Amino acid sequence: MLVRDSREGDIPALTAIYAHWVRHGRASFELASPSDAEMARRRRAVLDQGYDHLVAETSGRLLGYAYAAAFRTRPAYRFTVENSVYVAPGLHRKGAGRALMAELIARCTAKGFRLMVAVIGDSANAASIGLHAAMGFRHAGLLPGTGWKHGQWVDTVLMTRPLGEGTASPPE
Ligand SMILES: CC(C)(COP(=O)(O)OP(=O)(O)OC[C@H]1O[C@@H](n2cnc3c(N)ncnc32)[C@H](O)[C@@H]1OP(=O)(O)O)[C@@H](O)C(=O)NCCC(=O)NCCS
Repeated sequence: MLVRDSREGDIPALTAIYAHWVRHGRASFELASPSDAEMARRRRAVLDQGYDHLVAETSGRLLGYAYAAAFRTRPAYRFTVENSVYVAPGLHRKGAGRALMAELIARCTAKGFRLMVAVIGDSANAASIGLHAAMGFRHAGLLPGTGWKHGQWVDTVLMTRPLGEGTASPPE
């Protein structure tokens, strides 16, 4: 398995992966899946802001993707990133999520960020909570009933992971 920077040509595969989870899951609070053009615009925005946008592939087939983005835009948040990770249906539990997250954590640490936040839709999302726990994230909070999707209230689970020295030293 190879984890690499995503390319413009990966967009249709990423759109298809994300569309599945928008339609069938509650990790994303989107209700309608974005077009290729919108996914390309979002990727470009991530890169233009200096964050990483990665894919995992094997034998030329895309298994999943992950990226970092600003957690919130007010400037005191600038050493904190939020991560997103999605793996194609049917290709779970083969290590793609772990490989993507390991590379994303390494890249964000090297850039000097100090905290990664996972904002996980659905407290029943055992796969995402399990993956983040396996990558060193700890529970940081639960926002009950923040979403309404598929006819039910959906919680938001917050998990955080220090990067580098975390809060043990000033960041600059
Ligand atoms: C969450 C997700 C990215 C995990 O990707 P994955 O490639 O299946 O995960 P991996 O195979 O790398 O698993 C790594 C570790 O995560 C944990 N994990 C993964 N799936 C799990 C599950 N269903 N239940 C509990 N723990 C799980 C395990 O510790 C696992 O290690 P192990 O297989 O050695 O036990 C994938 O399930 C997914 O795309 N889900 C839908 C979208 C989503 O929820 N994205 C996260 C948005 S915040």
